Amino acid sequence: MSNPIRKAVFPVAGLGTRMLPATKALPKEMLPVVDKPVIQYALEEARAAGIEEFIFVTSRGKSLIEDHFDYGFELFETLKAKGKTKELDELLSWLPKAGTVNFTRQQQPLGLGHAVWCARHMVGDEPFAVVLVDDLMTGTPGCLAEMVEAHARTGGNIVAIEEVPQDQVNKYGVLDPGADDGTLVEVKGLVEKPDIDVAPSNLTVVGRYILSGAIFPLLETQERGAGGEIQLTDSMAKLIDREPFHGLRFTGRRFDCGKKLGYLEAIVACGMDRPDVAAGLQDIVRQYV
Ligand code: G1P
Repeated sequence: MSNPIRKAVFPVAGLGTRMLPATKALPKEMLPVVDKPVIQYALEEARAAGIEEFIFVTSRGKSLIEDHFDYGFELFETLKAKGKTKELDELLSWLPKAGTVNFTRQQQPLGLGHAVWCARHMVGDEPFAVVLVDDLMTGTPGCLAEMVEAHARTGGNIVAIEEVPQDQVNKYGVLDPGADDGTLVEVKGLVEKPDIDVAPSNLTVVGRYILSGAIFPLLETQERGAGGEIQLTDSMAKLIDREPFHGLRFTGRRFDCGKKLGYLEAIVACGMDRPDVAAGLQDIVRQYV
């Protein structure tokens, strides 16, 4: 049995250009879906997977993320004084415990591989998760929890995967698949954003990873890949012959909140899951379709 996964890295340095002007001053990770910022869904999913330490790789202009996970002294005291204990208890129920949230900065936008590498000293040499916050995942017990459970059986490295239409494969990391039992797929190769006509399959990596600490010396070389960026996928590909490497078809759904339509769909889907707004939201949506 492999080590439990205790730490998760959240690369949150991206500019969010596809959601401008909303993201001009507001970090894209703080965009609300119903009444929670996108980043809180990711943290709650990680916590449901047993993650104890949350490592955020930020950049300039992202300090609202730190504030969101901090103790809100003035707000909490005011809620207490007004007797709004329900609201206060709700906030305290998800607030990370002191010392479990760490921040480091990616000083330059050099790619996802570089962002993860920036967290190397905080992770150390142990298996860890990477959570791309733009990909909002729904489902129970959660995508990352399913991956942690699978990792206990396989060890090595696991990425969440999804089939996409062939004409979309050039937007993703793509698998060269081996043995496939319908849920777990052996990974024989990985290629970042291949041209549509040479992609090895239409099975793509989505924003959840469990990686071994062996990824860090590979990222250290800082080789540039697709788009001139230091790609996580390229270093993962080098691990394939050395360690077990699998893709997991997860049971929930993914919404790409980095894009307008994905974000709008996430709001509708999450709203329909919420007893306090579901019926009203259904009435509203009906008026427009
Ligand atoms: C990143 C990864 C890519 C992965 C995708 C999932 O790409 O590099 O391999 O398939 O996330 O959302 P990005 O969306 O940052 O271009």
